[in-house]
Order: sequence, then structure tokens, then C-alpha cells
Amino acid sequence: RAVLAVASECAPLIKTGGLADVVGALPAALAPLGWGVRVLLPGYPAVLRALAQGGPAGATADGPDAVAREGALYDVVAREDDLYGGPARVLAARVGALDLLVLDAPHLFDRPGTPYLDAEGRDWADNDLRFAGLSWMAARIAAGAMEGWRPEVVHLHDWQAALAAVYAREMGARAGTLMTVHNIAFHGLAPGARRGALRLPEAGFHPGGYEFFGHVSALKAGLVWADRISTVSPTYAHELTSPDFGMGLDGVIRARADVLTGILNGVDTEVWDPATDPHIRPFRTARGKAANRARLLSAFGLEDGPGPLCIVVSRLTEQKGLDLLLEALPALTGRGGRLALLGTGERALENAWLSVAGRNRSVAVRIGYDETLAHRMFAGADAVLVPSRFEPCGLTQMYGLRYGAIPVVGMTGGLADTVIHASEAALRAGVATGLQVFPIDAHALAHALARLCDLHARPDIWARLQRNAMRSPVGWDASAPRYAALYDDLAAGA
Ligand code: ADP
Ligand code: GLC
Repeated sequence: RAVLAVASECAPLIKTGGLADVVGALPAALAPLGWGVRVLLPGYPAVLRALAQGGPAGATADGPDAVAREGALYDVVAREDDLYGGPARVLAARVGALDLLVLDAPHLFDRPGTPYLDAEGRDWADNDLRFAGLSWMAARIAAGAMEGWRPEVVHLHDWQAALAAVYAREMGARAGTLMTVHNIAFHGLAPGARRGALRLPEAGFHPGGYEFFGHVSALKAGLVWADRISTVSPTYAHELTSPDFGMGLDGVIRARADVLTGILNGVDTEVWDPATDPHIRPFRTARGKAANRARLLSAFGLEDGPGPLCIVVSRLTEQKGLDLLLEALPALTGRGGRLALLGTGERALENAWLSVAGRNRSVAVRIGYDETLAHRMFAGADAVLVPSRFEPCGLTQMYGLRYGAIPVVGMTGGLADTVIHASEAALRAGVATGLQVFPIDAHALAHALARLCDLHARPDIWARLQRNAMRSPVGWDASAPRYAALYDDLAAGA
């Protein structure tokens, strides 16, 4: 049984956020359930380099259709003469357990910067065409462009893949389509006049189709055209139906509520395993965190205090509520707590955090993206703070659970679904794993931080919290079968 997953990111090859982790982890979780997933990914420079290091696709990469790229040979499994302004080919490759289809289209993807931004941090002006290219190729594969392999299901992740639902229909592909929303805040908008250049059917340009207030909305197209819709937690699935969270697409979501499911993300429990993690001093119980804690303090140049050592590992954007944390901070540092923050994003937030770290010796900030440091932070921390205003699922609270760093989270989306709030009732029942903040504002966050300090000061309760946290089921065991069931349905209907 074959699935084509389509996404703009996939860990460990290219990652800017949790999307990559999920796309990278799902194939291994689904393989035991009988679904073979191939991931179609843009051929960014970083991806092609990683392929070359991982070696060619295997013994088959020497046929008449093999090409050299970055010094290694690959099978070309599909071609397109004009993919939005230039030729393109699809290379088959394996990296670890990942079965990849890499869209080698230099005119679209051979550029410096992040997958979406140039070196100055601006969106590439042709992002609509770039990801239309990814989506077009996905649809062609769904319609049979690859010899000997045709997916029964096409799984589209976020707006970058969403137009494939339209193209696949236009091309008459029989595969069922699943549109997964990782974050409805990103619509993939383009001026309405671009619809021709994007090769979209003219008849779909209206509010019931892919039009969004005069613009083309790629995500909306996916929501309207896909056979099924899923999102990454049950609570977010519900939130999406309301104007407060739907970002203008709640009406579309409500209209399709009968095909919408929320399936909670898991984390890759092999990559995130405190007992075997090569980045840290491995540990099996929370007591083993001490050496990691000392190392974390020194990595950030922090002196220890009597309160909890907290961390933030995050994109610095409005979504993540870190401006609320700036306001609530005295509730933590006033009680001897410490904070180490790793993140990058909006300049204003970066500067605000750097300036706090300059004034407050209990706070240390590292601006940047650093996977190894992130692992070390979860290993050493007493608590991880995730005060997001909205959070479709969130992964860092789950890394926190697994590494015995107690999560303090906004009560929203997947954060609400993964953390058991330390209410009196939950403490008495012995099931609490963290703290939830509600409403999500600076006042409630300050209260939660004060409560965190109280709990931290009671060793028996704290040890229980850590034990519960580390035992929380955060893998894919429960969720992979739900995706498999969705695929089964889609394949049956296709
Ligand atoms: P989102 O996808 O909205 O950014 P998630 O919590 O789902 O939020 O996923 C974020 C992922 O990116 C996690 O794997 C987290 O550890 C990682 N991450 C975020 N910022 C950084 C950073 N500055 N350095 C290293 N890893 C980061
Ligand atoms: C998005 C969301 C995040 C989620 C991730 C993976 O980036 O912001 O909450 O965990 O996708 O699904």
C-alpha cells in the first residue's frame, strides 16, 4: 500500500519547525501498519547535500536514467520539461529509513536562505510558483508519472502542498487526497491575477473555491478540494471551527466538518530518547538529569539559584506568546528561577529578549537555531515554557515530558491535549504532568510560574511530576493507526 507524502520540510534533511519532525517521523510509524510512505520534498541545496552524504538511492542508481547530483548518482523517476519556468526532475533516494522523492528544479529551489526566505529575511517573491511546482509534481506522480509506482493516497502537508489537491483532480488522478493542517495561520496567498500562471482552473476562482478575498489561497484550495482534512490535535480541530482560531477559514472548515479529524502528533521516540541521546549525558530517571543541568547552566553562563531552571526552545513569533513571558518573568526570577532561551524569528522579539538578558542575570538568551543545544536544554531543564496563544500541536512540551522537564503551557490546541494540569485533584490522583495557563495572558502566566516555583520547592511532589511526565505516552503508537485508518478509507474510495 502506497502513500505519497508531500511537504516543504522533512527532518533530518531540512527543518524550520515541527512540520519537519512530523513529516520525518510518520513514515517509520506507518510502515509497520502496512503503509509505505514516500516523501516528495523540494531539492533545496541542503537537501541535495544531505542526499549526497547519505549516498545514492541504492544499487539501482546506475541505469540509463541515472544522473549525478552533488557528486552522487540518482535514479530519475519522473521529469517535467517546464515546471513553472524551467525543467525539473524527480530523484529517488534513501536517507536512513526515509524513502525520498526529491524535486530537483534549480530554478525554483537552488537558492541560499531558508526554504521560504531570502538572506534578508524576506519571502521569495515567487513562493507561490515554487510550491505550485512542488504540488504540480505531486499531482503528476498521483496521476501516474512514475513508472511502476503509483500512490493510492496523497497526503498533503500545509499550504506548500495544498494545490496538489486541485491539480490531481484536474489531471484525473484516482488517488485519495488528505490535507493536513499544521498551522492555519499560513495560507499561501498570491494575488488573484496569478491564478493563470499557477495553472489553476478559472472556474474555481470564487469564494466557494480557492479564492480568498480576491487572492488565491493555496491552503483554502486544499481544504476545499481534498477528500479528507486532518489537523494535528483534537482540540485544534475543534478550535479551527471558530472565528477566534480559524484565521478567516473557519467557515470553510465548518462546511467540511464531516471530513475533518484531529490526530495528535507524536514525537520520534528514538531521536528523543534520554537513555540513548548522543547529544546529552544519557539518563533513565530524573535523578540522572543533574549532570545535564550543570552543563546547561554553564553553557548559558547562568549561576544556579534556588528556583527551577526553565527553558524556551522556539520560533520567536506572535504565536508563541513569548511577549507574555517577558511580562510575567519577575514571577519566576523573583523566586530564584532561571531561564535559558534558544530561538530565532522576529527581530523585535529577539532584541527584547537580548535586552532582558543584558539586564537580568537570571536570564540567558541564545539567538539562533541549534539542534544539539536544544537536546541539551531539554535534558538539563527543570521546566519548559510554552505560553503559546495558539498551538496546533506543539512538540517541545512533549520533548519536555520525555526528558523530565515539566511543561508550563497555554491551554490551547495540542498543548491542552498532551499535558495533565497539576490541579489539586490531579495531584491527589497522582497523574499530573505539568501546568496549563488559562486564560492565556501575562497575569495567568505569572500565576502559573509562581505555582511552578511552589511545586518545585516540594521535592516529593516534584519527583512525582517528573516521573509522570517521563512516562507520558508521547510516541506515535496511538496516532499512527488513526492515519492508517484514514488512508484505508481513502484508498477504498479511490
Ligand atoms: P512550530 O512548528 O510551530 O515551530 P513545534 O513545537 O511543533 O512548533 O516544533 C518546533 C520544532 O522546532 C521542535 O522540534 C523544536 O525543538 C525546534 N526548534 C524551534 N526553534 C529552535 C531553535 N532555535 N533551535 C533548535 N530547535 C528549534
Ligand atoms: C506547526 C504548528 C505546531 C505543530 C507543528 C507540527 O508548525 O505550529 O503546533 O506541532 O506544525 O504539526
